[in-house]
Amino acid sequence: MKALILSGGRGTRLRPLTHTTAKQLIPVANKPILFFVLEQVRAAGIDDIGIIISPETGQNVRDTVGDGSRWGARITYILQDTPGGLAHAVKTAREFLSDSPFLMFLGDNLIQGGVEGLVRDFAACGADALIQLKRVPDPRQFGVAVLDEQDRVVQLIEKPQNPPSDLALVGIYLFSPVVHRAIDRIKPSWRGELEITDAIQELIHMGHRVEARVLSGWWLDTGKKDDILEANRVVLDEYARRDIRGEVDGGSQVVGRVEIGTGSRVVNSVVRGPVVIGSNVTIIDSFIGPYTAIAGGSHLERVSLEHSVLLENCRLVDVERIEDSLVGSNTRVCRSTARRRALRLFVGDDAEVVI
Ligand code: TTP
Repeated sequence: MKALILSGGRGTRLRPLTHTTAKQLIPVANKPILFFVLEQVRAAGIDDIGIIISPETGQNVRDTVGDGSRWGARITYILQDTPGGLAHAVKTAREFLSDSPFLMFLGDNLIQGGVEGLVRDFAACGADALIQLKRVPDPRQFGVAVLDEQDRVVQLIEKPQNPPSDLALVGIYLFSPVVHRAIDRIKPSWRGELEITDAIQELIHMGHRVEARVLSGWWLDTGKKDDILEANRVVLDEYARRDIRGEVDGGSQVVGRVEIGTGSRVVNSVVRGPVVIGSNVTIIDSFIGPYTAIAGGSHLERVSLEHSVLLENCRLVDVERIEDSLVGSNTRVCRSTARRRALRLFVGDDAEVVI
């Protein structure tokens, strides 16, 4: 069994962060989403892993993930020259996948409990595809599946106006090599992409058995800013623990599940978990509230920050009540001392500022 992790794509909904980084490398609880995916793939016993990368962010992914030895995996990078859709990504990886069955995992998706059970089920059930589904309140924005009484998939519809079920496709699939024949038979959709839903529907037309499992735990699809904050909240809730390696002075209060990395200092501040603070961070005269992740190298002084994600080397000084924010690396936010009080902004393309 091999694994194919999709880490290409445009990431338009996460601009401006994705102008400089791959969206799969955006950290949740200070760890790139892609690392969680790699851990889940390895936990399912798969060590031969292909990663789809794009020309724009591929080098970034290679530099961050490396050869896979830190997960005990062998990694092959596969360049997809254009984001032609999920089935196009599989087509691009044809040589790597060869005649092996494979797990396909979208590099910006996470599920509770991992994929071990699903991989085991696929080996046991003898179907040609096994897809992970999740019941969602509004299925109109997802691929939606219709099942028969035996949990076999009878129909798949991409973003239906009138959803026939509330079962959305999570970005995790298992395929036998017969899927390549189905992909060869499909045409690009109206949005010009080779859709994996069309390929699975084609498998059904060809008479192959497609099964599904419905996930009861959480599913996080981190495509947009609020999804990242939600993922950060859920992951901190589940995984944060108390581990204080940095220094906390006598005037500070660090409450609950808080991680503080080496070389970090908390001075005259309150930190209320779950919170994760990376290494070499300074927090002075500040309040850091629940569900916050601060990556390494940042400096916060007279700041109140809650339910937010800060990437590396940010500098926040004299700003009260920052909430629900996702801040890119090397960002500076400060209060002007000039008499004329005004907002002075220097923000990247596609940024969003709410005042
Ligand atoms: P999407 O989130 O559907 O697409 P996107 O990354 O282009 O983002 P946006 O809609 O904001 O522009 O992709 C799901 C995952 O699959 C994501 O991790 C990127 C990856 N992907 C590829 O690797 N190749 C592709 O051709 C596409 C469409 C996506």
